[in-house]
Amino acid sequence: MPQLEQNPATPLLDALLNYTALKRKRFHVPAHVGTAFWTGELGEKAHALGLHTQLLQHDLSEVEGVDVLSTPDGVIAESQALTALRCNVAHSFYLINGASVGLHAALMTAFQPNEVVLMPRNVHRAVMAGMVISGIRPAWFTPTWESDWGIWGAVSIEQLQDAFEENPSAKGVVLTSPTYEGIVSDINAIAQWCQSKGLRLIVDEAHGSLFGHTPSTPPSASQFRGVDAVIQSFHKTAGSLTQSAVLHLPHGSSLASKRLQEALNHLQSTSPNYLVLASLDLSSAWLASLAGQAQRQSLWRNIKAIRKRIHGMSAFKLLETPLGSEEANGISLDKLRLYLRHAYFDGQVWADALEQDHGLSYELSNPYGALFLGQIGHTPADFVALMQGLETFAKAHPKHLHPQYNGDATLYFERIETPILPEIEALSSPREAFFRASERLKVGECLIGRLSGETVVSCPPGIPVLLSGERIQTGHLPFLAHREDLCVLVEKHDKIIL
Ligand SMILES: Cc1ncc(COP(=O)(O)O)c(C=O)c1O
Repeated sequence: MPQLEQNPATPLLDALLNYTALKRKRFHVPAHVGTAFWTGELGEKAHALGLHTQLLQHDLSEVEGVDVLSTPDGVIAESQALTALRCNVAHSFYLINGASVGLHAALMTAFQPNEVVLMPRNVHRAVMAGMVISGIRPAWFTPTWESDWGIWGAVSIEQLQDAFEENPSAKGVVLTSPTYEGIVSDINAIAQWCQSKGLRLIVDEAHGSLFGHTPSTPPSASQFRGVDAVIQSFHKTAGSLTQSAVLHLPHGSSLASKRLQEALNHLQSTSPNYLVLASLDLSSAWLASLAGQAQRQSLWRNIKAIRKRIHGMSAFKLLETPLGSEEANGISLDKLRLYLRHAYFDGQVWADALEQDHGLSYELSNPYGALFLGQIGHTPADFVALMQGLETFAKAHPKHLHPQYNGDATLYFERIETPILPEIEALSSPREAFFRASERLKVGECLIGRLSGETVVSCPPGIPVLLSGERIQTGHLPFLAHREDLCVLVEKHDKIIL
């Protein structure tokens, strides 16, 4: 937890406001020059969208006094340093293309092309793009599958040890923790193990920006020795604008900050959106503010209360630790994430009903359950509305009205027949697969045995169901049912471009 202050500094935001206060006639980009210039019906639409002069004035790019994202030595450098201090890390880099670009840059920095990296099956598709860009070779392994909940769980040391035994030349590990549904691996133990094996560790903490900043969440992976980079989507949980994110180099990271900056400079726009950057400055200060802390404490009280009430309902069950498959301890849960299932209704059905009938929109749903996120923007009234929606649905859907009800509330989950992904047989690295000659085939039996030329993702949670370079098996076909055709690699190809 950072040293809390009444009014934490916001150097970047202040610089933006100062520039605007100069009221200069602008002869630079962006072209709207800080005015809502649209007229007529389009002007009304722009206004309805909130594109007012007030907002547009601050939509600047690299002008005098607001620093340069690629070579920061002014207010961006100052703001990043403050964030690093508040998050207790050696260095924080601001990202304007989400956690995605942070993952790409971290892979480019941590590894050389063709190096082998241990890769759990449940990485986000952004990591696939990182593999194409960096040229690393994934050694895939399977994390725990939480079959009662239909979601990926934690990665254990044992799984890593097995993967390393099969791939002793591996140079590192990439992990997603927390998972979309909030399951947090034992990063401390994993980091120590990685250090003992000389493996670099990159943690995709896209959903964990509040870790370490609220009593309801586990510590951030950035606090453990042996972790080399941690990437957080501030926009997902810390309240900044969409696409804003932060890459942290923890104390003791083996990655060189200059090299990482160079990688980011290859990947990020030279016209960063300063509203996005200033929103990071603001969110970082909010994390360090007394008012922000009070708000997070209030959020935690609301979360505790709603979790308790859901536990008291017979119709719904909430994801908690220990998980069914948990053996070793050290796995924890981000309790701000409410992943719950109904006793006998498909998650997609009841979550849609909550959306349609109660105006409650959710983050994700599947045949098992649905995910609702407790966020720092929420008010107590939001949680009351969510609770009312759940209670009303439960009351309106008594067991005896359910078409499949035969007296046993567990029957639905025992009968769920969601397809299980086959074991990965990856014969080409994502980079090779991307550059190899390919053809499109209609989805069907003819795909079996061919190598996929594309990554197919179920979104959310953005986890690939078929990897580029993976051998297509019969078990993949149910996951491709929504597709007409698929890109596959041609079998006889003349050249591989590396
Ligand atoms: C686990 C995980 N990693 C990375 C990302 C990419 O983050 P962003 O959308 O901020 O680029 C996501 C997005 O949903 C994610 O769920």
